[in-house]
Amino acid sequence: MPNTHHPVPDSPFPPDFVWGVATSAFQIEGAASADGKGPSIWDHFCRLPGAVADASNGDTACDHYHRLQEDLGLLGDLGADAYRFSVSWPRVRPGGRGAWNAKGLDFYERLVDGLLSRGIQPYLTLNHWDLPLELQVSGGWANRDTMHRFVEYALGMHARLGDRVASICTHNEPWVIATLGHETGIFAPGIQDREIAMQAAHHLLVSHGLAVQALRKEGCRAKLGIVLNLAPVQPATDSPEDSQSAWLEDGRLLRWYMDPLFGRGYPQDVLSHLGGDAPRVEPGDMEAIATPMDYLGVNYYSRSVVSAEGPWDTLRGGLPLTEMGWEIYPEGLTQLLLRLHRDYPVPPMYVTENGGAFKDELVAGRLHDAERVNYIAAHIEAVRNAMKQGVPMEGYMVWSLLDNFEWASGYAKRFGIVHVDYATQRRTLKDSARWFAAFLKRQKAARTHRAAQAVETLGV
Ligand code: FCB
Repeated sequence: MPNTHHPVPDSPFPPDFVWGVATSAFQIEGAASADGKGPSIWDHFCRLPGAVADASNGDTACDHYHRLQEDLGLLGDLGADAYRFSVSWPRVRPGGRGAWNAKGLDFYERLVDGLLSRGIQPYLTLNHWDLPLELQVSGGWANRDTMHRFVEYALGMHARLGDRVASICTHNEPWVIATLGHETGIFAPGIQDREIAMQAAHHLLVSHGLAVQALRKEGCRAKLGIVLNLAPVQPATDSPEDSQSAWLEDGRLLRWYMDPLFGRGYPQDVLSHLGGDAPRVEPGDMEAIATPMDYLGVNYYSRSVVSAEGPWDTLRGGLPLTEMGWEIYPEGLTQLLLRLHRDYPVPPMYVTENGGAFKDELVAGRLHDAERVNYIAAHIEAVRNAMKQGVPMEGYMVWSLLDNFEWASGYAKRFGIVHVDYATQRRTLKDSARWFAAFLKRQKAARTHRAAQAVETLGV
């Protein structure tokens, strides 16, 4: 890809705009069975032959569980406003029901207090895919009972940390859990059955709404929302067949989640397409899903191009690709945010994940990842463009703080702004981390400057 620098103009974002970095429990923590943690569906899935590209697992990952202080130090040095992390459900309640694990809860207590003492707002995600294995044994997300266990889990975490976290996200990317986990089966729990997938998707959405209601009833002060993986879906050509396929894919990826969350029920075209695989919906379910949220989180990586003839070859698009084979298409983020704002009564939105895997080479202790810097800068600019056109955006978070376990791709794909040497667990700031820290410093300086100006204007 051309290394043209893509600097973000220094004109500042609004003073309360939240800049953050994101991770998830299974991808960084390791300590898979330490201190009473139970197994998750990902612990199990990684052991299936061929499930993970490099036959790796999350047993050690970035060993974040044991290196919490060092990683908190990194976060403090970066100068981020917020850290988006997830709680490992089987670490805090090993079987998903029954006894809670005090040592697991203590870990998140140390994490949250460590963030607060550095002035970093904790953004907690409840479900970033690592469901307790025991719940999968009784049907996992396809079983309605899991929804109620999820609400208990949400309440338990709120009881412990609700007074200190800025935000609680119910689920990360329910499309991935449903479709990749239960339909194509390339992610845990590795099921290949569309009917089960759509039932799981439904239960994820209902459990989101029930959890938001239950947390509100407890007087939760944290902002409550969900995180979706979304993309503009474009037809490969202007043939009617491609357009039709693209609209259906838009239905399955975006409208299937956005429509019911905003009170419109499931999209009719997708229901007709699913036929007998459509989920069973019980009275009250759709009302629960439509429970108002405080924010919507959007994870954006690329566009999706759909051809009626079969899978789209990303090389055909002529756009530069990341190491994941994903097209680099920052304009798509502006288009997507504008569309969400136009088509739905969205609450304030965050980009809760955005970043890229690139071929990183550590040479003499330095890692010059210009492509990642360009990627992040261009996407921040894309957010700004959407804001200029009236889209209510409240924050942007880089995926990810650390190189980590990239699910079915194992450790080969590196998304971190901090490099991790898995043999030694040594962390090294990449140029992107230095660039992001400098960018945040300038944003903060602009805030202070404007605050001083305001005081002057008021004549205080
Ligand atoms: C998202 C996931 C996140 C990470 C990035 C690359 O789908 O939420 O855990 O793997 O992709």
